[in-house]
Amino acid sequence: MANALQLEVNGRHYTVKYPGDTPLLYVLRDELGLTGTKYGCGEGQCGACTVLLGGAPRRSCQIPVSAAAGRPITTIEGLEQNGKLHPVQQAFLDAGAFQCAYCTSGMIMSSVGLLKTNPNPSPADIVQGLQGNMCRCGTHPRIMEAVLNAAKASQEPGRS
Ligand code: FES
Ligand code: FES
Repeated sequence: MANALQLEVNGRHYTVKYPGDTPLLYVLRDELGLTGTKYGCGEGQCGACTVLLGGAPRRSCQIPVSAAAGRPITTIEGLEQNGKLHPVQQAFLDAGAFQCAYCTSGMIMSSVGLLKTNPNPSPADIVQGLQGNMCRCGTHPRIMEAVLNAAKASQEPGRS
């Protein structure tokens, strides 16, 4: 049965009518048109669908929309502020840390989540933090470079 649910996505409030067990990913993409969040495996294995839920990276294909109601959700579309890319987005762009880019929004969301809890991660921390995100194109060395550069940039005075 479809219930009315209140969602807060990228700072905007929405009322959606969906069965509570619908994956959050479907609602983000199909109802709200936020297609930056990708469907990869649909089984919690690839990380392509990663969003921030309450500030922490979560697989949106595995979260029932009812469990996300009333908690702040951030998707890749919500990172940019006032026309300026988030430092992690900019670092991925600068490092060319993608090829087909299907994994990229999930990688970025997991990296943002990692840097929130560990602003100065070692390469080993980054491997650990991104272990749930797969890249079939093998861009891992450039992803590593991007996350290290984003961490550095965030610590420069005047940058966030
Ligand atoms: S689509 Fe969610 S983890 Fe792969
Ligand atoms: S850039 Fe293609 S899957 Fe990662």
